[in-house]
Amino acid sequence: MSTTVQAQGAEGRKAQPDHLGHVIFITAAAAMGGFLFGYDSSVINGAVEAIRGKYDIGSAALAQVVAIALIGSAIGAATAGRIADRIGRIRVMQIAAALFTISAVGSALPFSLWDLAFWRVLGGVGIGMASVIGPAYIAEVAPPAYRGRLASFQQAAIVVGIAISQLVNWGILNLADGDQRGQIAGLEAWQWMLGVMVIPAVLYGLLSFAIPESPRFLISAGRTAQAKQVLEEVEGKTVDLDVRVAEIDQAMRSEEKSTFKDLLGGRFGLLPIVWIGIGLSVFQQLVGINVAFYYSSTLWQSVGVDPSSSFFYSFTTSIINILGTVIAMIFVDRVGRKPLALIGSVGMAVSLGLVAWAFSAHLVDGKLPHAEGVLALIAAHAFVLFFALSWGVVVWVLLGEMFPNKIRAAALGVAASAQWIANWAITASFPSLSDWNLSGTYIMYTAFALLSIPFILKWVPETKGKALEEMG
Ligand code: GLC
Repeated sequence: MSTTVQAQGAEGRKAQPDHLGHVIFITAAAAMGGFLFGYDSSVINGAVEAIRGKYDIGSAALAQVVAIALIGSAIGAATAGRIADRIGRIRVMQIAAALFTISAVGSALPFSLWDLAFWRVLGGVGIGMASVIGPAYIAEVAPPAYRGRLASFQQAAIVVGIAISQLVNWGILNLADGDQRGQIAGLEAWQWMLGVMVIPAVLYGLLSFAIPESPRFLISAGRTAQAKQVLEEVEGKTVDLDVRVAEIDQAMRSEEKSTFKDLLGGRFGLLPIVWIGIGLSVFQQLVGINVAFYYSSTLWQSVGVDPSSSFFYSFTTSIINILGTVIAMIFVDRVGRKPLALIGSVGMAVSLGLVAWAFSAHLVDGKLPHAEGVLALIAAHAFVLFFALSWGVVVWVLLGEMFPNKIRAAALGVAASAQWIANWAITASFPSLSDWNLSGTYIMYTAFALLSIPFILKWVPETKGKALEEMG
């Protein structure tokens, strides 16, 4: 990189405050994809018991219906980057929004269980796409000075999406007098729960028309004049646009051949850094975080909470998740990624261990005795808090920044895909595992939290304060 370009880059980092509001709007609009990610993947939680009853299915089949969307997500995550390089980031958001919308309508009005599964997979593809395109677009549009903070909007949107889906489910359930299969205007409550997603999906689609295409995509497509317009919009007039275009162009040349082939190498087939990305993704899921969200109602009921208040506890879990995320957003740049992840792993191991211990008590009528029930509730909330203030934010931040420029896009796709597959493995196995032994299941999650400690210490790089160009 030439000195002029470097100097201008540094100048460009002093983004204009009057543009910041606009940049925040753009980021928030793109992060709507994260909102749908959280909303769609957790909304099913409020509907599972109704689906079980309506189609008269056992735990294993129910698990497939809950989890099958995640396979679609793995496909969406793996393909989003390549499609975005061809047709643009905004178009990918629009495809994801269309998939979300169609899937919401289809899932609300299924002809059969298979039909429902099909629509859920289709929506899953949308989630997978949003999980990759959100962070990628935000990183590309954000002025360098604010990139880190703006990048964490994605996880914040995910956790808010989870919370709002629970709130909406609760509202719908109340309208149906507490019965997931109760009628509201000709449809059953669970159908409304799945169908309401049309609203944020359409909003996401509309917002995508109000935000600019990424300057990096425009430059790669030879649309330099338009790229300059967008750069001026987000970084201000004082930045020398010709130099900024040259800077981005130069950085992209080193990245443009980022394909799966570039990830190959090393003793184990893939580059070590790619394995570390996969490891981070997989550990984030193997501690069982999404069991706490997707199956929370079922879990609270086995603790002894009655069905009507189980929604309340699912919601308090979400509030704790949001709180933890805010804490992580404040500390991720100050404390660093590794210490935060380590604090999280230790906290998760202890709290998961306590949940396992509580569930080892002798069940009375399928429920825990009072003291153990209270302990399980508190420990499960502590687990979510420790996850949110560490692995929730840290993994998405690291995945966005830890790979060398040249392989970033492809490596992010592979790691995100691995994350969805791990999410599927945990979610699909939970009902059968919990039928077998709930305590044993939690001992397994505890073991993964413990194993993540040496993994962080030995393999994970500290990226705090480093320029993206220094990764590798
Ligand atoms: C992270 C995980 C996601 C999980 C969420 C919970 O975004 O990737 O799977 O649902 O955190 O807050």
